[in-house]
Amino acid sequence: MEFSSLPRIRKKWEQVGKKNPVFATAGGRASASPKKLAEDSLQILENGILFDMSPESISSMTVLEIGCGVGRLLGLMSERSTRVIGVDVCNAIIQEAQKRTNHLPNVELYQNLGSNFPFIPSRSIDFVYSYRVFNHNAGDVVLSYFNEAFRVLRSGGIFRFHVTGTSRMLRDSVNNLFHMKSRLAFVGFVQACLWFDSVIVIFPMVPIGRSYTKKELRSRLTKIGFTDIGFRDCERLDGGIWVTCRKI
Ligand SMILES: C[S@@+](CC[C@H](N)C(=O)[O-])C[C@H]1O[C@@H](n2cnc3c(N)ncnc32)[C@H](O)[C@@H]1O
Repeated sequence: MEFSSLPRIRKKWEQVGKKNPVFATAGGRASASPKKLAEDSLQILENGILFDMSPESISSMTVLEIGCGVGRLLGLMSERSTRVIGVDVCNAIIQEAQKRTNHLPNVELYQNLGSNFPFIPSRSIDFVYSYRVFNHNAGDVVLSYFNEAFRVLRSGGIFRFHVTGTSRMLRDSVNNLFHMKSRLAFVGFVQACLWFDSVIVIFPMVPIGRSYTKKELRSRLTKIGFTDIGFRDCERLDGGIWVTCRKI
């Protein structure tokens, strides 16, 4: 299905991806050294994506990342699990990811149209995760991914994603504005204005999507059939929360 925001989303990510795929995908920190970026990625993986999962439980898993960017997390995940699949909407970014993961035989990459992955069979994945992707998208696109995650997960499979949470967003926005943390202050202000289902694209930055209350997330995920829904604040000052749920 084609959602109205997707043509703009694809165009914007192609623009930023062609300019500098690493900058586009790694939190906009163009000046960060490769060492710092690698440290950040490991921290996100260990303290966010895998924070409560044992190495034994991950080792036999087939894993899917929605919005995999240049594959910084996929590469780390490939060392820990059996099969790792990355999907991203941007051709330039997926090409960079191919270059970076060519040597990893258990990594597969696909470009998609931005809301689903029909090429992945139902009930074939153990763990679906997504980091800093849904915060760039409209609500209907995110909901489509919730449904797709449910479809591809096996019974007992886990879905974990990062999203902008409303209460944290407000608190962090005020903090950011108070401390005038340069671009974060601006992003915080824009996000505070986004109480409706929308995506705005601000040149030269990437698209900014909507935020969610925990109540809304719980209700939407429950309706789809997910259980064991839990929330955890992200450490970064961006209003992000980790949401985890399970398909029974
Ligand atoms: C900020 S980057 C994060 C990349 C990766 N998760 C990481 O942490 O390194 C966002 C990525 O999501 C992709 N993306 C944005 N919207 C998407 C959508 N609707 N479907 C698939 N990919 C999307 C972009 O092309 C970009 O590579």
